[in-house]
Amino acid sequence: SQGWLRYAPVPNAPGPESVPSAIIALNATQSSPVFTAGEELQRGIEGILGKRLHLSATAGQSHSAIVVGTVDAYTNAYGDLKEAEDLETDGFFLSATLDKVVIVGQNERGALYGAFEYLSQLAQNNVTCEPLVYNPQAPIRWTNEWDNMDGSIERGYAGPSLFFRDGFVVDNTTRVAEYARLLASIRINGMIVNNVNANATLLSDRNVEGLGRLADAMRPYGVQLGISLNFASPNQTLGTFDPLDPKVDAWWANITNQIYNKVPDMAGYLVKANSEGQPGPLTYNRTLSDGANMFARAVNPHGGVVMFRAFVYDNHISPVNWTNDRANAQLEFFQHLDGNFDDNVVVQIKFGPIDFQVREPASPLFGSLRNTSTAIEVQITPEYLGQNCHLVYLAPQWKEILEFDMRSDNHSSKVKDIITGERFKRPLGGYAGVSGVGSNTTWLGSHIAMSNLYAFGRLAWDASLGSEAILQDWIRLTFGSNQDVLDTITDMSMKSWPAYENYSGNLGVQTLTDILYTHFGPNPASQDNNGWGQWTRADNVSIGMDRTVKNGTGNAGQYPPEIAQIYENLEQTPDNLLLWFHHVPYTQRLKSGKTVIQHFYDAHYEGAATAQTFVKQWKSLEGKIDKERFEHVLFRQTFQAGHSLVWRDSINQFYHNLSAIPDEAKRVGNH
Ligand code: GCU
Repeated sequence: SQGWLRYAPVPNAPGPESVPSAIIALNATQSSPVFTAGEELQRGIEGILGKRLHLSATAGQSHSAIVVGTVDAYTNAYGDLKEAEDLETDGFFLSATLDKVVIVGQNERGALYGAFEYLSQLAQNNVTCEPLVYNPQAPIRWTNEWDNMDGSIERGYAGPSLFFRDGFVVDNTTRVAEYARLLASIRINGMIVNNVNANATLLSDRNVEGLGRLADAMRPYGVQLGISLNFASPNQTLGTFDPLDPKVDAWWANITNQIYNKVPDMAGYLVKANSEGQPGPLTYNRTLSDGANMFARAVNPHGGVVMFRAFVYDNHISPVNWTNDRANAQLEFFQHLDGNFDDNVVVQIKFGPIDFQVREPASPLFGSLRNTSTAIEVQITPEYLGQNCHLVYLAPQWKEILEFDMRSDNHSSKVKDIITGERFKRPLGGYAGVSGVGSNTTWLGSHIAMSNLYAFGRLAWDASLGSEAILQDWIRLTFGSNQDVLDTITDMSMKSWPAYENYSGNLGVQTLTDILYTHFGPNPASQDNNGWGQWTRADNVSIGMDRTVKNGTGNAGQYPPEIAQIYENLEQTPDNLLLWFHHVPYTQRLKSGKTVIQHFYDAHYEGAATAQTFVKQWKSLEGKIDKERFEHVLFRQTFQAGHSLVWRDSINQFYHNLSAIPDEAKRVGNH
């Protein structure tokens, strides 16, 4: 499907006379983003207003035309544009009046973004009259695809890979181009096409040639291809992968050159090293920065970037030791390396210290790397959050992290300002979103989950946008502007994360899902006594991780002092992170006045009750949404409603059995 790029006719739209009658895509060469912009404008306007505009590539009479192009092409043809000096990389200028529309990009990609912006405004019947400059806040706005060479997708819930099949790059790249088109419309400029758990066979001649074809399919949309690397790739030929061995260095330089030969604009590499059994520099007693810089040297002559993941931890830690804590790992591994990474390295940090749980505090690493460029990693694919069988609109969760103020050096240090490079004056930084997109026609396996992909791009461009405003743009573009549709999907989506948190795991205890295998459905018992370090420390009187400095793992002390003091202190820690930072009796009173256990019981009932209302709300839209999408979403909402009851009852029963504390409302337990 077209996702949010449907270009459906808009009821009550101003007539076709409201747009000029021709499109000039300045100097557009076949397959360039400006060429794409011209075609997209033609296609979009025909869909939305039913008018087919003449399209040409040569500067002509700009009167009564939509002119799209780069700032250079524009000024050559029409003279100076005063707004040009305000344009930053990938930025654009858009001015739309009745008889003339000007879309000027700082580069070709920016021009395409401008065309999509204009079409989005047209499709929402809300064209901005005032001329405006649009610039990105962060240079790196990438998706991470976790696609395996065999065509499966790690933590993907939407069918097989768009990129690989049976060990090789696919022949047919049509869907790859369609995906790049969606990404370009939300101003994503890069895509890592293979799983972080990477396979050295990606670097075979045949696959490198294949990467060239994937990049060719993405290039017209300004989306640059990048790849994940297996750190041990040279091992087969060289018998070593020691990053300080000159042979290894030369091997990477050579393969990198070969890849750039096929993909001249490759964005760069993503590396998961010494994590969850993956090889890395620690194998040779080298530092993580030694490892990262080896790749940095290889891509540097080509202008490439290395995204080096901070997700490094020991997945066999002993729960017997009270002060062991996986959440401490990233700072322990990376803090002392601050300043040792080459300038084209970006340390890519998951939003929280553990692993995409329903609620985590922001990773303390954001607040402590001052001489290292950083990016935030979020999951669009909701691995722990219902795997697109539950509606969970994630932008509110991401916003909480992005707006979180680390107070580094007692100064405003919002995560969103750290990752853009602004706070610590870093040249690079940005966003990585693990997408989970597959061959399913819905892309993510669920039509309403697409709000998450859409919101990721919008926030990566401008983190100050509100999650509800983003959502409503997406709804109008996806389902049209019917007021009931808008209100209902807004209401459901905005309630969805709190509801899921309520019935899956609240007070910062983590998603109480099956930690060992599926990450789907309730399994609180699996949360303790595992080597993964995702623990709740629940026994029959108390629950929660003691992460204080005074009595626990010391994790609270990893935050800058003002924040550390809040998390160290039971009274000051917000209720929604209470069990993340403290180990307390089930009878501990919250700020709300309830006990922890009663909050558990009540929240699980509330969350599940909300999930029941989603079904009714969705049913109220029958006839206002096409039958296919109506039925598809209804099926998923019905599943969620049922599954939320399973969650509610298994979690409540589990803690009731464990604590033997009755539910004041007498719903839980045997009566
Ligand atoms: C999670 C996820 C894995 C993934 C890992 C990572 O643990 O379950 O499938 O490989 O994160 O981000 O590297």
